[in-house]
Amino acid sequence: MAEATVLVVGGGGREHALTMGLVASPSVGEVHVAPGNAGTSLVATNHPFSAGDVESLVGLAQSLGCDLVVVGPEGPLVDGLADKLTAAGIPCFGPHTEGAKLEGSKLYAKQTMQNLGIPTAGIHNINSPSQIDSALDDFAPPWVVKRDVLAGGKGVVVTSDRQEASQALSDGLQADGFVLLEEFLSGEEASMLIMLDESGWVALPASQDHKRVGEGDTGPNTGGMGAYAPAPVVTDEVREKVYSRIVEPMHEWLRSQDSLYRGCLYVGLMIDELGDPYVVEYNVRFGDPETQVTIPLISSDLYELLFSVASGTVGSHSPEFTDASALTVVLAAEGYPDSPRKGLPISIEVALIANGDGGAFIHHAGTKHESGGELVSSGGRVLACTGIGPNLDEARNLAYSLMDGIILEGSHYRSDIGFRAL
Ligand code: AMP
Ligand code: GLY
Repeated sequence: MAEATVLVVGGGGREHALTMGLVASPSVGEVHVAPGNAGTSLVATNHPFSAGDVESLVGLAQSLGCDLVVVGPEGPLVDGLADKLTAAGIPCFGPHTEGAKLEGSKLYAKQTMQNLGIPTAGIHNINSPSQIDSALDDFAPPWVVKRDVLAGGKGVVVTSDRQEASQALSDGLQADGFVLLEEFLSGEEASMLIMLDESGWVALPASQDHKRVGEGDTGPNTGGMGAYAPAPVVTDEVREKVYSRIVEPMHEWLRSQDSLYRGCLYVGLMIDELGDPYVVEYNVRFGDPETQVTIPLISSDLYELLFSVASGTVGSHSPEFTDASALTVVLAAEGYPDSPRKGLPISIEVALIANGDGGAFIHHAGTKHESGGELVSSGGRVLACTGIGPNLDEARNLAYSLMDGIILEGSHYRSDIGFRAL
């Protein structure tokens, strides 16, 4: 088979992880990334197009003669990148606009789940200030307030303070004309990344993100401060429930739709004390930082897997996984998540620990090289140290020993990634 040319869209840690996996594939000749980051520029070719510039990305994929485009973030999918690539005859990993509505609209996702009988929290859709009090009365605290906008995991307020919940509802109502109050789900969260198309689906090892900025899950929600896989909270029994109650009905429904869903369905789960899973959210893409800990656990060819999804044949594909564990720790800029400080120099003492089949390496996210070659921060989540080891404990030690050698003024990271499993 001729060596493939692949374009990865996006510029975060997720895209660096995908790029590294694709570069390692014997089927791949060239990997291009738009816009990429300093890390992707070390192993692939970056192109200065933003992930939101759908027209330019289609033009780039055509001019490069791409065999496959892998879309990282949800924005371009919601904006129709997959539809346009498909129309241009270029296989795309990532769903069209219709499928992307599962992430683009929380209300649509909720209605879909309710129609299919998929376990999830109840909601009130509030479209008048007069409904706020009775809705708050209806659910016990803590209250979960969600605006129906793409907010990268940061548009949700969870609070036991009725005044704060009421304010968040009023603010959302004023901004968007309606706002959602969701029933609180208790338990432990986990993420399942399902690669699917009309022919079938494949689940990657379950992972667990750490959404709060502070140690012990405190402070505001972020895009994710660290993750590990496999997540032991997803036992074989839980996994079977997730498959039968959530993945199968969703897959049956998606394959019955006019436009075909080909990409990753990220299932954000809450697993209660009885081991019953509920959907917190769907995303229509890989998670970040979940990708950084799941892609390295795939031991078979990543390109073949992604291409099989993009061409509708994943049902006859059987990827292989290693028995290793992976853990990643995100280094965030000063002020993240509210107002991250950018443009500061980053010093990396050790970039790689090679250790048999495992080791540790850096996934870049908000980084770039200045014209003089200096590495500087350019985003809220700057980079992540990822360790791969025979067990979670060793993966953790490897990740933190890399982190110890990184200097970025004012930056912060959580020192308790993996605490629920260790
Ligand atoms: P979302 O953007 O819907 O993924 O929400 C972001 C985060 O808020 C989730 O990862 C949870 O930690 C929390 N969250 C959202 N909905 C709920 C809920 N119904 N019950 C408990 N926590 C929730
Ligand atoms: N880590 C959460 C997300 O990717 O949405």
